[in-house]
Amino acid sequence: TKQFDIAVIGGDGIGPEVVAEARKVLDAALADQDAQLTYTEYSLGTEHWLATGETLRDETLQKLRGHDAILFGAVGADPQDERIPSGLIERDLLLKLRFELDHSINLRPVRTYPGVATPLASEEDFDFVVVREGTEGPYVGNGGTLRRATPQEIATEVSVNTAHGVSRVVADAFGRAESRRGHLTLVHKHNVLTHAGDLWRRTVEAEAAKHPQVSWDYMHVDAATIHMVANPQRFDVIVTDNLFGDILTDLAGAVSGGIGLAPSASINQEASAPSMFEPVHGSAPDIAGQQIADPSAAVLSAALMLNHLGLSSAAARIESAVHDQLREWARSQTGHGLSTAQRGDAFVSRLTPAAVS
Ligand code: NAD
Ligand code: IPM
Ligand code: MN
Repeated sequence: TKQFDIAVIGGDGIGPEVVAEARKVLDAALADQDAQLTYTEYSLGTEHWLATGETLRDETLQKLRGHDAILFGAVGADPQDERIPSGLIERDLLLKLRFELDHSINLRPVRTYPGVATPLASEEDFDFVVVREGTEGPYVGNGGTLRRATPQEIATEVSVNTAHGVSRVVADAFGRAESRRGHLTLVHKHNVLTHAGDLWRRTVEAEAAKHPQVSWDYMHVDAATIHMVANPQRFDVIVTDNLFGDILTDLAGAVSGGIGLAPSASINQEASAPSMFEPVHGSAPDIAGQQIADPSAAVLSAALMLNHLGLSSAAARIESAVHDQLREWARSQTGHGLSTAQRGDAFVSRLTPAAVS
């Protein structure tokens, strides 16, 4: 039996609620398989910070490095909660993990789900993947404030784009395009952001020469938001920087049927540290503690984790269970009345032999 040692960080708000369902589903999917997951829970996030003043100790980070993968819920305080500085936990825990564990590829698959309504006028299906750079861009904290709180204040936030960082994500994206429908779209804003835009464009051109089977085009990010709503079918693989990818994937989640459906994987390409699997959404303070969050994104992220661990048949079973259940809820119009746990249980029931009749 293959053993995998999983770190679980539920985090804040709905994070622990949805991760609990992902764990149930994982166990059900692996029950009759030759693989077993063991879990170590890490209580990190807002409560931990309030109690200890710590976000992520070095020794905790070291322990996390030893796991095969990390299943992550969400972090982030309620913006109304004035005890916690804005973004502290997000930067010092979540982004720190992505940077320290070198999660160069932030993979965010986007698709319609059979039967599930989207807010779009057309009912035509779509299926694309956003390959978001994960360790650079304006996220690195490079900038500063001069003459703070004076009328002469100047605040800068400098986007860092390295040849190393851009080329590895672009190469990954071309590889994915090759095994998908053979089309890649570079999304940037090189009409205005000329320095970084130029690096991204040259990097894509150079990589494209190595992948003659892949066609590619370029789109400014503002126009990309139009196409994502008007004609998402035109996308196969989108490669983009950290901030554009963040914004586009919330939009993508919304157009695919809801942010509660959108999974993601933060991947360490060299396997020099564990990759992390997390819903695209955040801690949703507006619905936290009510057991009404949609656990689908966390469950689908867990499926991405199984794929990454080489357990692709169990991953496929989870995906089918979620798709079939979503279709059934849409058909019978019953999903919305169910609690987070009841939805998790419904996925589980499709994975247990008794339900196969
Ligand atoms: P959010 O994604 O938490 O919520 C946006 C909206 O989507 C809210 O109305 C929320 O109720 C809804 N929503 C989110 N997930 C849902 C689910 N599973 N089911 C049903 N509805 C869902 O974004 P926000 O409100 O901008 O951020 C809240 C906090 O989360 C902030 O502190 C933010 O920094 C943090 N955040 C964390 C992550 C992460 O940990 N990966 C991601 C995004 C935001
Ligand atoms: C996401 C989140 C994070 C990001 C925040 C919480 C730092 O929005 O995972 O999409 O911007 O990457
Ligand atoms: Mn985001």
